[in-house]
Amino acid sequence: MALIILYLALDLSLSATAYNPEPRTKWEHSKINLIRFHEPDVFNYSVLLLSENENVLYVGARDAIFAVNSLNIAEKQHEVYWKSSEDQKSVCYIKGRNQETECFNYIRILQPLNETFLYVCGSNAFQPICDYLDLTLFELAGRDEDGQGRCPFDPMESYTSVMVDGELYSGTSIDSMKSQYTIFRKSKQNSLRTEPSKLWLNEPHFVAADVIRARQNSPNGDDDKVYFFFTEISLEFNYFGEVMVPRVARVCKGDQGGLWILQNKWTTFLKASLFCHIPGEKPIFNIVNDVFILKSPDLEDPLIYGVFTSEQSKTSVSAVCAYSVSSVEEVFAKGRFMKSSITELKEIKSEVYNGAIPEPRPGMCINNNGTEMDYTSSLNLPQDNLQFAKEHHLMYNQVIPIGKKPQLVKQDVIYTQIAVDSVKALDSNTYHVMFICTDEGILHKAIRSEHGMHIIEEIKLFPVSEPIQTLLLSSKENKRYIYAGSSSGVVQAPVAFCEKYPTCRDCVLARDPYCAWNPQELMCVNILQERRTEWALIQSMNGNASFCEDIE
Ligand SMILES: *[C@@H]1O[C@H](CO)[C@@H](O)[C@H](O)[C@H]1NC(C)=O
Ligand SMILES: *[C@@H]1O[C@H](CO)[C@@H](O)[C@H](O)[C@H]1NC(C)=O
Ligand SMILES: *[C@@H]1O[C@H](CO)[C@@H](O)[C@H](O)[C@H]1NC(C)=O
Ligand SMILES: *[C@@H]1O[C@H](CO)[C@@H](O)[C@H](O)[C@H]1NC(C)=O
Repeated sequence: MALIILYLALDLSLSATAYNPEPRTKWEHSKINLIRFHEPDVFNYSVLLLSENENVLYVGARDAIFAVNSLNIAEKQHEVYWKSSEDQKSVCYIKGRNQETECFNYIRILQPLNETFLYVCGSNAFQPICDYLDLTLFELAGRDEDGQGRCPFDPMESYTSVMVDGELYSGTSIDSMKSQYTIFRKSKQNSLRTEPSKLWLNEPHFVAADVIRARQNSPNGDDDKVYFFFTEISLEFNYFGEVMVPRVARVCKGDQGGLWILQNKWTTFLKASLFCHIPGEKPIFNIVNDVFILKSPDLEDPLIYGVFTSEQSKTSVSAVCAYSVSSVEEVFAKGRFMKSSITELKEIKSEVYNGAIPEPRPGMCINNNGTEMDYTSSLNLPQDNLQFAKEHHLMYNQVIPIGKKPQLVKQDVIYTQIAVDSVKALDSNTYHVMFICTDEGILHKAIRSEHGMHIIEEIKLFPVSEPIQTLLLSSKENKRYIYAGSSSGVVQAPVAFCEKYPTCRDCVLARDPYCAWNPQELMCVNILQERRTEWALIQSMNGNASFCEDIE
């Protein structure tokens, strides 16, 4: 009953158009020609990597890696099969794993290493391994490195990774029982990980990781930072029982760990909660399903877009919240710390820390503040600073989204993936176009306008309903596509279906920043492909079709 009342309240206060917008156009799968890639008897196309310069899309599936033409993914260029050995499979089976579903090599990591090699890892029948893929021969180098800490054992498990300057940063569990998790980096000098304590990571469900580069010639000598996004079971609210919280965590690239305290552990690991709900209203969107960081050149401050669902609601409801990277940094640089500890009775104590904070501030990257005090590396930070960092890694302050509330709330869908493109429309404004996938293989394309959120179109990417596991956007100037991977295959869709709008009115009322009416050819065209046209194209991002009447 309580829930029903909450939902009524939600519906009333969220003027339905602004908060539960309906897609303006719905494309049936059979009405659009999407290009598809799939190989007979190969499943689980769950990892995609794009090489824009080469026009190649790399696809990681179960027991196989493919290279396909990114402009037409039906054109396969190379393939390599990478299977677990019969011995490994039987060990997997003997340990009680399912021979039909689990004891395979699910490719989990495909990351660029340098011009000639990709770094690849697979779950390898619960014995994860990593290798180098030689792109000139499309062959594995046969290094068979231990993948523990980089690649999950369990193919069903969530994980994340990002390659930064030749070093892999990963977030995953480190054993087959999922009893320990880590944020890990192995480099030539040393390996760094999180403390194996649930105060640092408590059953995290990793969804994304990315690097945010320091501004060039940053006046304070700042470092590049690697961000991780995940949902974990909170320990600060443990008096409510198990509550999930969406988190952002970050480490600094220059971190070398401590010398005695925090040896081979991150000294810069800090985490904070992501706030995503309408203040004072239910539900609270406390599960983050995916994150995309928009780093387009016109943005001084990159934007973090996350899709969220709620543990509280019985019906499906999803939200998109956007955060500026500077607001996250502000929480880490100026926020208050929580102090958490486990008492001898194994109880978790978590409280706001009000005492003095050592200098330089723990958790900050080594910047001018540190070097001025002669701390040039985390290895020579003072003991009290490291001890503080070890005990204070959670911020009390939450990261508040732009506009202090979600950009979009949508009922009856579960959003699972997001990618965001930046498009300059003919009105010279830049629009951030969100491509959001559901667990049923549907794609929503939405923009924010002065009237709230506008879902331009809904696309059925797959003939049958199936969850989309990975979503990737190409950013080529005039040939942009969205790629989606699922258990059954990969689909390539154009970022817009302008040519499907038959009249000027339809074209303009779609309010799609990619589309405009060409009055000469009497066609709705993609503006990225027609920039040099001599004819004034007609587009109205506020949906004023009166320009069309003039010509019709
Ligand atoms: C792999 O694909 C199969 C067949 O579609 C599916 O049943 C299974 O759940 C997938 N496994 C993973 C780990 O995604
Ligand atoms: C790429 O990395 C591999 C492995 O570290 C190395 O052997 C190779 O020389 C590198 N190639 C280039 C072009 O840097
Ligand atoms: C340096 O320290 C000062 C004083 O604690 C602080 O206000 C400033 O934000 C710090 N700068 C950086 C880049 O951490
Ligand atoms: C639509 O455009 C026409 C022509 O420029 C203009 O006269 C009219 O005021 C506009 N209507 C709205 C609602 O903006």
